[in-house]
Amino acid sequence: MRDSFILTGILSILLSTGCTSFRSPYEPKQTGSLKGTFKGDFTIGTAINTDQIREKDATGGKLITDNFDAVTPENIMKAEVIHPEWDRYDFSLSDKLVAYAQKNNLKVNGHTLIWHSQLPSFVRRMKDADSVRQYFTNHIKTVASRYDGKLESWDVVNEALEEDGSMRRSIFLEKLGDNFVVEAFRLARQASPNTKLYYNDYNIEEPAKRAGAIRLIKKIQDAGVHIDGVGIQGHWNVNYIPLKHIEDAIIEFAALGIDVAFTELDLSVLPNPRNTIGADVDQNAEYDAKLNPYTGGLPDSVQKKLTVGYESLFRLFMKHSDKIDRVTLWGVHDGQSWLNNWPVMGRTNYPLLFDRQLKPKPAFYKIIKIKENYSVNNQNHQKNARINQ
Ligand code: XIL
Repeated sequence: MRDSFILTGILSILLSTGCTSFRSPYEPKQTGSLKGTFKGDFTIGTAINTDQIREKDATGGKLITDNFDAVTPENIMKAEVIHPEWDRYDFSLSDKLVAYAQKNNLKVNGHTLIWHSQLPSFVRRMKDADSVRQYFTNHIKTVASRYDGKLESWDVVNEALEEDGSMRRSIFLEKLGDNFVVEAFRLARQASPNTKLYYNDYNIEEPAKRAGAIRLIKKIQDAGVHIDGVGIQGHWNVNYIPLKHIEDAIIEFAALGIDVAFTELDLSVLPNPRNTIGADVDQNAEYDAKLNPYTGGLPDSVQKKLTVGYESLFRLFMKHSDKIDRVTLWGVHDGQSWLNNWPVMGRTNYPLLFDRQLKPKPAFYKIIKIKENYSVNNQNHQKNARINQ
């Protein structure tokens, strides 16, 4: 009787912690790790959530440190978390993140200083330009200086552009005017001279928005303000990966003398509801079973599309690895992905390289293979070149 009581207790604790202990173990590295594979090409990162920062899941933790050199906090450095009230900052989770990263030899990309979304309510309520300016200045100075040199990079400004390349109509544009991006970089550089500074956005591989991003970056440079790189978020769908536009974007951004990073890579396998484009977190659509076709598992044909999608992207990344500083996936495994809830709540998506049981997917093995073949081909190519000399 007592034993069954204890057993029920243990079971309910396990259930309430999300059954992480029942996960089949992550299989370690025999087949290679992501970070080992792309060493010398680009840094490979992942977005991590609060449980992962708090080291709640040992198997997941090992997967992270085996495979990634860099982490981006998925939410905890956003203004609503780190600066909840006018005169109150909450650095508890970001300090923990930095300590976790130092202990595990991971670089940290800070995400993000200035963004129109996930703002604390005191900012959303602001009416006068002076208050917005004061918030903007204090926020950048306080947050960026605290982590100077402790972060590898900051997404200084996130998503300041509309799809047509014009400036997005946000509280910052409205109250501070269209120089706010230049000002954000100027302040970030003063506060954090030892951390790389990035402009980050989605769909900036698409021609019109790309032209807008180039104008914006040139404007920062022409003002004599420092910028290190541009982050292409990379939220795509297996049915539409604009490879040609991505390649053109890598080349054109690199020609500005800055680094290119893929900062939030994931490939949705689900149908996009009508009227949703890119990765605007404020978009949402109503649930409809037709929009959620794979609740029972991913059909082989779609798994194959996912593999081919990742393969073609990583081939492109390898081809331009001299211009690419980092490739970061937006989440560690499918169970954690924001794409289960955006733009429709409660779907079952499969966008990452590790599945819900933390098992590497065929796409994981494929991209490791490409690199191995790439290296062999390159060696042969160099050998042939020497013989022909
Ligand atoms: C997303 C997070 O993944 C979600 O957990 C959160 O609810 C909303 O934001 N572009 C960005 C990221 O720059 O910050 C967004 O992250 C995804 C789109």
